[in-house]
Amino acid sequence: MYPLIYAHRGASGHAPENTMAAFRLAVQEGAGGIELDVQLSADKQVVVIHDETLDRTTDGTGAVGSRTWEELCRLDASFGQEVYRGEGIPLLSQVLELLAPTQLELNIELKNGIVPYDGMEEAVVRLVRQYGMEKRIVLSSFNHYSIARLAGMAPDMETAVLYSEGLYRPWEYAAFVGARSLHPHYLAVTPEIVMNARMAGVKVRPWTVNSDDDYRRMAAAGVDAVITNYPGRFKAMQKA
Ligand code: G3P
Ligand code: MG
Repeated sequence: MYPLIYAHRGASGHAPENTMAAFRLAVQEGAGGIELDVQLSADKQVVVIHDETLDRTTDGTGAVGSRTWEELCRLDASFGQEVYRGEGIPLLSQVLELLAPTQLELNIELKNGIVPYDGMEEAVVRLVRQYGMEKRIVLSSFNHYSIARLAGMAPDMETAVLYSEGLYRPWEYAAFVGARSLHPHYLAVTPEIVMNARMAGVKVRPWTVNSDDDYRRMAAAGVDAVITNYPGRFKAMQKA
């Protein structure tokens, strides 16, 4: 059923963002895909966390990239919610293991716009291949140099241009950087952009669509998927 529902940082409207609990909840709620964010640890492990620093979403402090996985795996991301006790920062490999036996798509957002993690693209591509997820993966980034690198390095994997505002003729820009899809902020989406993208064979998946009205507007525009914190709510709307 279209549009597909991607769970943004997992079902992050209910469970702590980018945790295994949020990803399991998204699967339970019938999401068609999951969006998550990755950074690199000091020992080059691909870890699932949105910010470059630990402070907002864990009980740790400082830069993610200054800590080894051994240090990161001890941090707590439950924020004192008893039901989420034990939730922490996952490895990307743990999420791939969860999703490999399912039909869900996985959007890995490389957070390499602020910290240009050396070797991040290679590490992500290697993991996706290890779990045989090439056909269900979408690699995205606000760093479009990274998108161009990924498109060259793994042409069998879908790449998506992330952007926030009025990119001019984005369906042409996607082709220019070698991407097969567009991930715009939902306020940057118009029916004309979606129509032109469709004619160019470029998919459109806006973020972060959380209200019923915005969902209806995106669905009417004909987007391929919406990225939302509340996958269960929109699945219920689709069934109704
Ligand atoms: O990938 C869509 C969306 O997640 C981009 O923004 O800051 O939520 O990662 P952000
Ligand atoms: Mg993201």
